[in-house]
Amino acid sequence: MTLIAPSMLSANFLQLGQEIEMINNSEADWFHLDVMDGQFVPNISYGMPIIATMKKAARKTFDVHLMIVEPERYLQDFKKAGADYLTVHYETGFHLHRTLTSIRNLGMKAGLSINPHTPVNMIQDIIHEIDLLLIMSINPGFGGQQFLPLTYNKIREAKQLIQESGASTLIEIDGGVTLDNASDIIRAGADVLVAGNTVFSSANPAETISKLKQAGK
Ligand code: DX5
Ligand code: ZN
Repeated sequence: MTLIAPSMLSANFLQLGQEIEMINNSEADWFHLDVMDGQFVPNISYGMPIIATMKKAARKTFDVHLMIVEPERYLQDFKKAGADYLTVHYETGFHLHRTLTSIRNLGMKAGLSINPHTPVNMIQDIIHEIDLLLIMSINPGFGGQQFLPLTYNKIREAKQLIQESGASTLIEIDGGVTLDNASDIIRAGADVLVAGNTVFSSANPAETISKLKQAGK
């Protein structure tokens, strides 16, 4: 069963409480929370205080995606803010093995994300340290961009790597997921779909979440 993780980056921040309640009552599985620092990506979003506030109203898993340099400095802070999954970027790390181990030792699930230019095989030696592999299907920084077709091969490669190594890592796809491409992405091997623009710019977000969920059946 595919998991659906609406990205709060596309939510209406003036009505954050209502948006959270809509997701609580929908078929969504996780909240996807994008943290951007204006350095790793050319955009700045929100950080710990907003996530901690959202956590008070949310009743689903918090999937926190850090698009920040030196993420290892803030692991404890995001644990405190309510992260269940904490994902760092491959491209930011000199000592990823240590960072992923620390995330688990803090009691969170460890996520690793790769940008479109990073080959899947770069992670083969640390696959057992990764609970969630987030494959970026756009260049990170902004919602509402177009899905990069090169992602399909990466999903298939990742699936094979995970199966061959006997790991139980979930594959998450982030960026440009729509009602049109969701079933192809799932068929390639994705376990979790992030969707921002597709959910929040639709007339009926809860229904759109339900349709994304159906795409996996
Ligand atoms: C972008 C973020 C995504 C973004 C996806 O860097 O990581 O999570 O919110 O937005 P859509 O689904 O609109 O492409
Ligand atoms: Zn994201």
